[in-house]
Amino acid sequence: MEEVGTIISTFDSPTTDRFKFIIRGPIRKDQFVEFDTEEGKAIARVSEITKTNRYFMQAESVNEYEKSGLTMENLFPTQDWEYLVGDGIILGIYDNKIQRRSCFPPSPGTKIYMAEPQRLSKFLGLDPAYGLNIGTLQHHKLEAVLNLTKTLQKHIAILAKSGAGKSYLASVLLEELLDREPEKGQIAIIAIDPHGEYSGFAKDEKYMNKILVYSARDIKLSAMELSAQEFEHIFPDLKPAQKRELGRILNELKHNSKENSGPFGLKDIENKLMDSNINTKTKEILLDKLDRLQRLYLFGKYDNPSLEKIEAGKMIVLDLSNTTDQTKKQIIVDQFMKRLFRARQKNKIPPFFVLVEEAHNFAPEGINRASAISRGIIIKIAREGRKFGACLGLISQRPAGLSTTALSQCNTHIFLRVTNPYDLKHIEESSEGITADVRKSIPGLRVGDCIVVGEAVTNPIFVSVRKRRSKEFETGRNLEQVAKDYAQKKANLNKDTEAFI
Ligand SMILES: Nc1ncnc2c1ncn2[C@@H]1O[C@H](COP(=O)(O)OP(=O)(O)O)[C@@H](O)[C@H]1O
Ligand SMILES: [Mg+2]
Repeated sequence: MEEVGTIISTFDSPTTDRFKFIIRGPIRKDQFVEFDTEEGKAIARVSEITKTNRYFMQAESVNEYEKSGLTMENLFPTQDWEYLVGDGIILGIYDNKIQRRSCFPPSPGTKIYMAEPQRLSKFLGLDPAYGLNIGTLQHHKLEAVLNLTKTLQKHIAILAKSGAGKSYLASVLLEELLDREPEKGQIAIIAIDPHGEYSGFAKDEKYMNKILVYSARDIKLSAMELSAQEFEHIFPDLKPAQKRELGRILNELKHNSKENSGPFGLKDIENKLMDSNINTKTKEILLDKLDRLQRLYLFGKYDNPSLEKIEAGKMIVLDLSNTTDQTKKQIIVDQFMKRLFRARQKNKIPPFFVLVEEAHNFAPEGINRASAISRGIIIKIAREGRKFGACLGLISQRPAGLSTTALSQCNTHIFLRVTNPYDLKHIEESSEGITADVRKSIPGLRVGDCIVVGEAVTNPIFVSVRKRRSKEFETGRNLEQVAKDYAQKKANLNKDTEAFI
């Protein structure tokens, strides 16, 4: 491999985990390098680079010389004395597939080389043959192919400010899952899509036969699945007596439905309630709550999509972009994810990956239960999903507003650019794999650059996200366009009115 420098001896280095080296090759911050030790190859990351020049070390002499009107460059061969010093952090020793901790410092004078791509790939735990290719490792000729199990089984979080490329990266991940051959192991995908970004897959010829899109208008939940407990979950102010009466009515309806009458809807519950001889006050309150549910236009006799639609290698998109009702969105996510998880526990549907966009709205931190209806099931899958192949992907531009419990159960974190200090602090506290020097790089990332830390890789990696294979679906129109569209619509309307008069 290409030699890029030599370890130097300083007051406090080299040690077992750090060294400094003179750089002679094309080395950049966060690049991986390697060197020989008695125990095998050591792999290190360049955590910082410093430029120095002895001619510019004394402030007063630079000042005195340049007072004359001449520059230091005119007076001295300064360029010949500029050099780069790299800080290396030793990540481990790698020899014959075995990874060890470094227990002995390297000698000053040891030659540093660019890390050899194949060795680096193995050292990082990448999976070129069967994994998910999200892009290329920055400064290396190596594709960042993440192992499926390590990346998804213990859940993944994609965190960054708005516009940094979260949905783009998520689409790249979805392509990798959809394009997987059956021999490699396929899983089903469910995308919770508040902005309708993923419904674009259904318009792409390459993917359309693998995608089913359901808009909030079409999504239906079977009222039969609503137990008194679920009712209380949606309306936490339900009193024990009201819950008991409702439970009784639901049981009767369920019994009848099994016997002869088939599935029932909210209207049937309402009718049964009206006919019953329960206390008028209780009846009124329950009818009022039923009415509130009815006005969501969400509950019916059958689920749509039904769980039979969940298939390995295919994706269901729940496009919630045409409803502004936050409660409705939460109930959809809550009830749908509960049904998914139950079915998965009974092995009735394939292992799945459920991607939740705007996760801070569905699993918010520090908000009362009534306004966080879907938080419980998201946390439950985060905690228990791994045993059943129920994998969770949380995407958020407000990590500080996302449930800490859910976030800390995501064992792989991918960061794109984040600048908000509260979010950065939250990330540092909830992300185990992140070291202080990696954390410092997050605000400086460009669109499409990301850092992967945690279960998926043995050490944090910097990745340039690859280009999408699927067509990007335009959702964000710029302000000029929105303003022009509005003016056009208004003008047409005026014309129509004049013609009418
Ligand atoms: N890896 C990438 N390569 C090329 N363009 C990208 C990449 N990542 C993001 N973009 C572009 O940046 C913009 C914002 O990306 P998006 O994924 O919508 O951000 P976010 O979901 O974080 O708000 C989009 O126009 C997208 O096309
Ligand atoms: Mg987005």
